[in-house]
Amino acid sequence: MSPSPEKINVGGILLDQPFKIRRLGHFGFNLVNMDEGVRFYIDWLGFRLSDVMDYSKRAKSPDQVAGLGDPNGYFTRYGTDHHAMVLFPKRVRDALGRSEKPGITVNQITWQVGSMSEVGNAIRWFTEKGIKLQRSGRDMPGSNWHTYLFDPDGHQNELYYGIEQIGWNGHSKPRVMYDRGFDHPPALPQISEQQEVQDALAKNVDLLSGYRAVEKLPAIFDVDGISLPRPFKIVRLGPVYLFVENPETAESFYRDALGFTLTEEIVFKGNRCLFLRCNTEHHSLALLPLALRDVLGLSSHSKCAAFGLQVANYRQLRDAVKFLRDHDVKVTEVIPPDLHPGIDYAAHVFDPDGHCIQLYHAMEQIGWDGKPRPKELRRPRLLSQWPEVLEADSNAYLGEPFLGPWG
Ligand SMILES: [Fe+2]
Repeated sequence: MSPSPEKINVGGILLDQPFKIRRLGHFGFNLVNMDEGVRFYIDWLGFRLSDVMDYSKRAKSPDQVAGLGDPNGYFTRYGTDHHAMVLFPKRVRDALGRSEKPGITVNQITWQVGSMSEVGNAIRWFTEKGIKLQRSGRDMPGSNWHTYLFDPDGHQNELYYGIEQIGWNGHSKPRVMYDRGFDHPPALPQISEQQEVQDALAKNVDLLSGYRAVEKLPAIFDVDGISLPRPFKIVRLGPVYLFVENPETAESFYRDALGFTLTEEIVFKGNRCLFLRCNTEHHSLALLPLALRDVLGLSSHSKCAAFGLQVANYRQLRDAVKFLRDHDVKVTEVIPPDLHPGIDYAAHVFDPDGHCIQLYHAMEQIGWDGKPRPKELRRPRLLSQWPEVLEADSNAYLGEPFLGPWG
């Protein structure tokens, strides 16, 4: 697909697409080892449960999902977005006919756009361009207004506006308010969330009747002044590193259809690797040729090469490595520094299904001229060579800040 010759007015700015992706909002894996996976993401990494969805309710009969393990899907969060990480039961979904293409274990890669209109205009624009949409509307739980589309490899991308925010009391939206869900693109404008809550109050809905998680582990760590069960706090999602069959086709989709900007491309052992961004971070998305999966020794079950999680600071990154090792989680450097340009300090762990999770504390930010830092000016360090403290540089404490309390 070539770029649209006609620019489109998005909030008074002329763009190639009728929307602008601002950030990675949430992400998900379909897991085989659900019990261990939920423990890994919730107990060890600190995601907090915001709602549970029972897939067995979709079965024609109990036999259809019998013996396939926990049938629940888990919505979890690190901040106020209702979900940042979703963990769905792969075996149960497969049995219900929800299976993805081979190698697709990512449930969704979900990008936040700037307004409700941007979602509505995206739906029309994709349809005009002949780009197939899976579905559009507003799912519950989460309440985000969205549309879903596959990338050329079959990774499900989602664009959304307005995900539910879980506030100070930690309760999710009551299920009785799910009547504002939509399974089709809604007519715009829609009423505001303020009005939805006002309408629920008028119907005597108990606003505290939604799910609220209780932390099971003791808060034994002083994490920069807050007592938490683990010595670090995840403060941002991404980047997403994908193995793709054809980097050029994938690049065209993410650049021309979704509006990503190429920050940098490198050649690693003869393979062209692309690093793209949607905001000022060096990369929110990396496209790596599938041939690299064996070269790196990553799990052959998934086309997700790695998923990044940013912790609040460098000290916490060091403490996270120690904490995870203390809990028998192997910490590695399976992704070499050349394949995460812009992140100088990264540690890689594996979830129980074998997905690689990249922990880091800071990423290079791209400024007005769109140029990344020259490679020779970067200072990546192997895990074994990490100093106790770092000199401040232009990566430190920049980029999307975390809002709200840590626990
Ligand atoms: Fe989603």
